[in-house]
Formats: sequence, C-alpha cells, structure tokens
Amino acid sequence: MVDLGRIVVAVDGTSGSGKSSTCRGVAERLGLRYLDTGAMFRAVTWWMLHHGIDVHDAVAVAARAHEPVLSSGTEPTGPTIAVDGRDVSAAIRTDEVTRSVSPVSTVPEVRARLLALQREIIGDGGIVVEGRDIGSVVWPQAEVKAYLTADPAARAARRALEEGGTDVGATEQVLRERDRIDSGRATAPLVQADGAVHLDTTPYTLDEVISLLVGLVEQAQDPAP
Ligand code: DC
Repeated sequence: MVDLGRIVVAVDGTSGSGKSSTCRGVAERLGLRYLDTGAMFRAVTWWMLHHGIDVHDAVAVAARAHEPVLSSGTEPTGPTIAVDGRDVSAAIRTDEVTRSVSPVSTVPEVRARLLALQREIIGDGGIVVEGRDIGSVVWPQAEVKAYLTADPAARAARRALEEGGTDVGATEQVLRERDRIDSGRATAPLVQADGAVHLDTTPYTLDEVISLLVGLVEQAQDPAP
C-alpha cells in the first residue's frame, strides 16, 4: 500500500513519445506535482547559448555548469522554469535549444548538478517525474516506473504538429538523432529501468495512455493479493 501523497511516478522514454502530455495529465488526474527534467536540461542549454559558450565544447560547458540558478514550478496545469530569475518557458523550446540540448546533457558536471536539484524537488514525493534516467538513476526506488516509446514516424508527426512545423521528415531526423545521442552517452543513458513497464504509445490516444498510467498507480496503491 503506497500513500498517494508520497508516491513517485517515474516516466522515461524517447523524444516525442508523448511523455509530457501524459505526465501532466496523470498528475492532474491524481492531484500530484509534476516535474519535467527535460526542461531543466533545456534551461541549462539556453543559459550556455545565452552566455556564448560552445555547446559542443564539453570542457567549457563543464566549467560553467555550476553557474545557472534554476527554479522549477511543479503545478501540472502550468509548469514553469526560470534561470537566474528569468522565465525561460518559451525560450527553451526554440530549434536552437532543441538542437543543442543533447550534447549539453552528455556532460557529467551538468548531470550531477541537475541530479541533486531533481532529488531535492522530488523530496517527499507526491509527484510525476519525466525524463530519460528517472527510474534508472534519479529515483530508482520509485513506486511506479514506466518507459514510453512510440513509432518514430508517428512521433515525428506528433512533434511536428505540436511545434507548428510542417516538415515531418526533418523532424523525424532530429528525433532519431536525439535518441541516438541520449541512448549512447556514457553517463545515465536512456534505458528501460529495472522494474519499468514498457508502453508503446503508438496505437493509443493521449487519454488512453493517461488511463493506462493511472491504472499502474492504482495498482501500486492497492496491489492484488
Ligand atoms: O524531454 P525533452 O525532449 O524536453 O528533453 C530534452 C533533452 O534533455 C533530451 O534530448 C535529453 C535530455 N534529458 C536527459 O538527458 N535526461 C533527462 N532526465 C531529461 C532530459
């Protein structure tokens, strides 16, 4: 029996698998907090670009990794992210940040900094956390772990629609490249964590995926005898 107020729901998966909308929906339905760790990596990336640091120079990124001061709001209906007191919710979604975030996320100093911050925010739980390494590294003891994937072409179509773009082929290329870097990096690569339930979201609507995850949480709260 797990107390909902203290539960941690860890959701990892590939880019564009529907993680964000799913996690927000689950958190809303269950009255939990929500943390988008991808937004934290994006915020650090935005900060590096803003300060003229070459995001492909791992030594330069590592040297400044301790500087940006992040603040994440965990309300699922309106999550926020600020760096050095500046709201960057929109700025972190630009193509430039999207292209640059994977190399920045491979830098161990960046990961170590954000890991500490993520664990601090998770605190006593009552939260849905999405990312790439939540169930494997950030919170392996999570009561519910899910690993979301989707067919690359379906993901590209969904992401192109979300971002208002029309070039589905180019979007699919970018997603595949991010998956390749995210899965291949040495520190905390994207993997299906031990104990995580794999959900291929391709054939489901958003509402259906949310219900599947809510079902996993209910199972954890009241496991069959
Ligand atoms: O979920 P997203 O697409 O906004 O994530 C952006 C990038 O951040 C992603 O390409 C990899 C990185 N990331 C990570 O390395 N670890 C996490 N827990 C979350 C995101």
